[in-house]
Amino acid sequence: MNISIATDVYWVGKIDWELKKFHGEEYSTRRGSSYNSYLIRDEKTALIDTVWMPFAKEFVENLKKEIDLNEIDFVIANHAEIDHSGALPELMRHIPDKPVYCTANGVKSLTGHYHQDWNFKVVKTGDRLSLGKRELIFIEAPMLHWPDSMMEYLTGDAILFSNDAFGQHIATEHLFNDLVVQSELFEEAIKYYANILTPFSPLVTKKINEVVGLKVPLSAICPSHGVVWRDNPLQIVEKYLQWAADYQEDQITILYDTMWDGTRKLAEMIAKGIKDNDPDVTVKLANVARSDKNDVITDVFKSRAVLLGSPTINKGILSSLALILDMMAGLRFRNKKAAAFGCYGWSGEGVKIIGEHLKAAGFDVVTEGLKSLWEPADTELSQAFAFGKEFSQVVGRHRE
Ligand code: FEO
Repeated sequence: MNISIATDVYWVGKIDWELKKFHGEEYSTRRGSSYNSYLIRDEKTALIDTVWMPFAKEFVENLKKEIDLNEIDFVIANHAEIDHSGALPELMRHIPDKPVYCTANGVKSLTGHYHQDWNFKVVKTGDRLSLGKRELIFIEAPMLHWPDSMMEYLTGDAILFSNDAFGQHIATEHLFNDLVVQSELFEEAIKYYANILTPFSPLVTKKINEVVGLKVPLSAICPSHGVVWRDNPLQIVEKYLQWAADYQEDQITILYDTMWDGTRKLAEMIAKGIKDNDPDVTVKLANVARSDKNDVITDVFKSRAVLLGSPTINKGILSSLALILDMMAGLRFRNKKAAAFGCYGWSGEGVKIIGEHLKAAGFDVVTEGLKSLWEPADTELSQAFAFGKEFSQVVGRHRE
């Protein structure tokens, strides 16, 4: 299935309806995904990116129905991660001498993956490649998503091929942003940003300002996953600028795991205390052992404050909460307040350990936390309510 995006610009990628996990087990893709490849025909022909390796043969066979592979003049490899470069070996087996355009880091990573001496052409920001009536202008985009990443802008049609940036993990028969359910589209777009791009937010802002500063028209953004943004493409650019700017909604999220329900009871009473002080705030609770960890991270991303709770076990905390804390540290969230809580029976180090992890992850820990001995009874539950109320007072109300 090849789809026209503009005159002589075609989507020639692969929709992966079956994909449920990505990056190993790291990222849940409950709506599947796509690997977007684009073919631009002019006096010269360029192919932008390929697809994930398991679909390499299918991709090349499909491409052959569209074009004699020898008519491809330029192969563009925006990013060496295997979901985009995985079909390059199969493609280049047919056209081994064709030039492969990529960044200097792209040569390193493509060579590291495939150990092939392809005819690499290294490009930098501002380099141009004439296709005939139109040109491709290259834009290096390091860390969006790897140090090798780049994008290109097609003059004439005013299309930005953005690779991972502005993508979403969605499998859909509808390639365009105006044809899909909007709530699902933005749910996947923010999850993608929160879980993949958060650590690179300063670079996102810088790169967008650089591209916007070119003051070129923009008719569409073609990312390498999910839908093409053709209807008001700037809407996703504006979202990225918001998300990159220490994004917050009026939300407080309580994450916990529990052994015998004591820490869960604390979590629920803390939530009531928060709502008592601030009825307008959205409070979400998640038992992290039973939740999709990427949804949990997306909730942390949206929150202005978080509370994390675990009982003490073996002088430590439950492993499910430790995993989330580790993910939170790697994603380098900024401008978020936090506190810890949990039950204990003997030594009781859990709350202190959570607090230390939160501080190390860059969270502003605003209290010493709430420790509760044994099974919380009325007194302890009242203390949890008061703790939630006080936490809400300390973190204050949301400001737009
Ligand atoms: Fe979609 Fe960084 O690969």
